[in-house]
Amino acid sequence: MSFQGGRKAPSRKGSMHDVPKDLMKQIKDLEAQFTVETPKLHEIVAKFQSELEKGLTREGGSIPMNPTWVIGYPSGEETGTYLALDMGGTNLRVCEVELPEEKGQYDIYQSKYRLPEELKSGTGEQLFDYIAECVKQFLIANHEGEDISELKDLHLGFTFSYPCTQDAIDHGVLQRWTKGFDISGVEGEDVVPMFEEALERKGVPIRITALVNDTTGTLIASAYTDPLTRIGCIFGTGCNAAYMEEVGCVPKLDHLGLDPNLQIAINCEWGAFDNERVVLPRTVYDVHIDKTSPRPGQQIFEKMVAGLYLGELFRLVLVDLHANPEVKIFEGQDISALQNEYSLDASFLADIENDPWENLMETHALFEKNLKIDTTEPERKLVRRLAELIGTRAARLSACGVAAIAKKKGITSCHVGADGSVFNLYPHFQTRGAQALREIFGWGKEVREDPIQIVPSEDGSGVGAALIAALTMKRIKQGIHAGVNVKRKNSLIPPV
Ligand code: BGC
Repeated sequence: MSFQGGRKAPSRKGSMHDVPKDLMKQIKDLEAQFTVETPKLHEIVAKFQSELEKGLTREGGSIPMNPTWVIGYPSGEETGTYLALDMGGTNLRVCEVELPEEKGQYDIYQSKYRLPEELKSGTGEQLFDYIAECVKQFLIANHEGEDISELKDLHLGFTFSYPCTQDAIDHGVLQRWTKGFDISGVEGEDVVPMFEEALERKGVPIRITALVNDTTGTLIASAYTDPLTRIGCIFGTGCNAAYMEEVGCVPKLDHLGLDPNLQIAINCEWGAFDNERVVLPRTVYDVHIDKTSPRPGQQIFEKMVAGLYLGELFRLVLVDLHANPEVKIFEGQDISALQNEYSLDASFLADIENDPWENLMETHALFEKNLKIDTTEPERKLVRRLAELIGTRAARLSACGVAAIAKKKGITSCHVGADGSVFNLYPHFQTRGAQALREIFGWGKEVREDPIQIVPSEDGSGVGAALIAALTMKRIKQGIHAGVNVKRKNSLIPPV
């Protein structure tokens, strides 16, 4: 199933005839700042492609291109019961996944827990204790009458969606927090023993079989049901992609002397694209977001496209316009609610873009309810256009990453499995992304169906993580390589 919608990305400018000159001038100005025209897309894709290559070399570059030790695609015949834990940007999900005998099928039981905001800036111990407690509660609820301390045979795929250096699949040193997390004592450390110790403290004897990135999970889960899948993407709170690479094309793995034809999933961590700030068309608002973030200079691409930042971008523009004496916007209104950092999330923009009325009455209600601002119709036209500009830029820039991987791998047709709140919920994100791909690849009207399509994926952090745990167990049983031995206490990985 493709989510391309129509051939044309929507243009919903509406009538602007009643918008006063000063606001119209601002709209034009914002259009100039936020629009990414086709030639710029080409320039970004070319740079992106060379940065993907660079990340695979021994010297490396901005984009980490992390080998994940997920080797090859699933056959569809994986079986067994696995636990999957997903630590996303906002929620925590614990799942038990059953992979039955029938090819490509699965059953999933799951519980969601909110990740309390204060944990995002606490200590590693607090974070992992909280997660371990959620796993324990899940097991108590789903294994009634069983002794939890006897569940050691359950294998866990832990989806930990932050950049990690992995020498083996059950090991991962956090390179840096992203998505606004700032938890002390974890960067530069192996998160697997940290979490296993927390599980031990809670009396849960389960060990981590595989540490998984959400993009790798998405790639594997999508490939499990759709053999056309070649790339897995997350467009959510954060943004990133994974794809399969031949070991022979990864110079930084040369020293291991592995079979060059072995397929290994690479977690690109493309949020770090253009950290050196040479090609992306950043606005003053992007610069501000970066400077005031817990990790300035990091995740420059992500900060322009990911859900965490879209609402903040929008808010910063409005605050800036209000402060400009030449612009009459929200005149005489108390904008203190709008002045709270990160008070608007991407769903606020999504709601504005979804407003079906020409006079934008739903937007009026949104501003009144959330920000205590009584908007005029011209003001609402400006905010609607602003939401469109920010949402469209995010979709078009995101498409550049997909195109760069496809070009790098010489892929001319495939499915890209995608997940995440922005992809699933932000209006027109999919059609706008598809339109950008057409411009990049020059697919004209004669091309009836887009050769590369970004399609909704299966559940990567649940089913994908379980599949990766299954693939890992299979490899371990066969005594086949699943990463270099990292001499970690309890590691399941045998020495190479
Ligand atoms: C993380 C990635 C993750 C992406 C999507 C980024 O901030 O660094 O590991 O895949 O968000 O969740």
